Amino acid sequence: MNAYDVMSISPIVPVIALDNERDALPLAEALLEGGIRIMEITLRTPAGLTSIETIAKTMPEMHVGAGTVCNPSDLKSALEHGSGFVFSPGITPGLIASAEANKIPFIPGVGSASEVMLAQNSGLLHVKLFPATVVGGTSALKAFGGPFASMRFCPTGGITLANMNDFLKLDNVLCVGGSWIVPKGAIMQGDFKQITALAREALQSIR
Ligand code: 3PG
Repeated sequence: MNAYDVMSISPIVPVIALDNERDALPLAEALLEGGIRIMEITLRTPAGLTSIETIAKTMPEMHVGAGTVCNPSDLKSALEHGSGFVFSPGITPGLIASAEANKIPFIPGVGSASEVMLAQNSGLLHVKLFPATVVGGTSALKAFGGPFASMRFCPTGGITLANMNDFLKLDNVLCVGGSWIVPKGAIMQGDFKQITALAREALQSIR
């Protein structure tokens, strides 16, 4: 699997922060039930790595990877815990080298022309736009389409049900990332049915 394959699994990539590893499997099941087969579990909570490991070991039908991978050490931990791919909010030469050495699909975040150039010149044609709505949203993506026609984006940060179609209809957008289908409150209350409903609603609303 390469970065293109990862970004082609689902038009919507849930960005998840889990406080308790025990929520990992019910959440994965709820998303699958709602039609979503990919999870970006961020390393911003201590339960992130163990949650990735649990899902990777027990649910082969779910594609699970790490998000908020900020340095080579994060990347190594993600790999050791069974991540099939890694997302980063940014792009650094160290991360690029580490992803290449470890042969793991790596989707870095970019927010400027220079960062797009760093990705492109490193052979990374599949990137996040982050934080999407802050760094210019759909206008930035249309503008990047001129000089960087081969680049494909997963806008993340500020994406919701209300604006996802504005992004998804662009030729250089393969998918969007977002936390809106995995509300923290629903996870805390164990309301996984709500998450299934939000996933279904989002997929059915794609135009
Ligand atoms: C994040 O950093 O949490 C992700 O980019 C998701 O952003 P969102 O909460 O705006 O969807």
